[in-house]
Amino acid sequence: MKKVITYGTFDLLHYGHVNLLRRAKEQGDYLIVALSTDEFNWKEKQKVCYFEYEKRKQLLEAIRYVDLVIPEESWDQKVNDVQEFKVDTFVIGDDWEGKFDFLKEYCEVVYLARTPEISTTQIKETLKKKS
Ligand code: CTP
Repeated sequence: MKKVITYGTFDLLHYGHVNLLRRAKEQGDYLIVALSTDEFNWKEKQKVCYFEYEKRKQLLEAIRYVDLVIPEESWDQKVNDVQEFKVDTFVIGDDWEGKFDFLKEYCEVVYLARTPEISTTQIKETLKKKS
């Protein structure tokens, strides 16, 4: 069984996320999503989520492409995750192109094209303008 892993915040789940998850799953048979915790988002990405971790996890678990959701709590856990879960392929959007090439020592690394014109930030900004 080929295992795939991806990382992200996935707040206000949108079709760009679903497109990413579908194509990530197509890379193998079993998709793990390492979901950024609220604390990691705040401390490391200066992001405040609309939905807290447990809600974002529930939404991801309802997506047919997702087999397992684990917490992303640090930038440094990737090598350990790849080894612990025996991951074959690491997948992430191409906004991160080149940033995780160091993982090539441990697994295949695939950057997928982002879906244009949609992001959590854009949804928040559009709603702010409309209110
Ligand atoms: N993603 C994508 N296409 C989009 C938006 C996101 O393929 N239009 C991918 C990202 O490249 C990443 C994953 O979805 O691999 C999770 O991205 P995340 O940062 O959680 O979503 P964004 O909508 O980009 O959120 P933000 O605006 O807060 O950065």
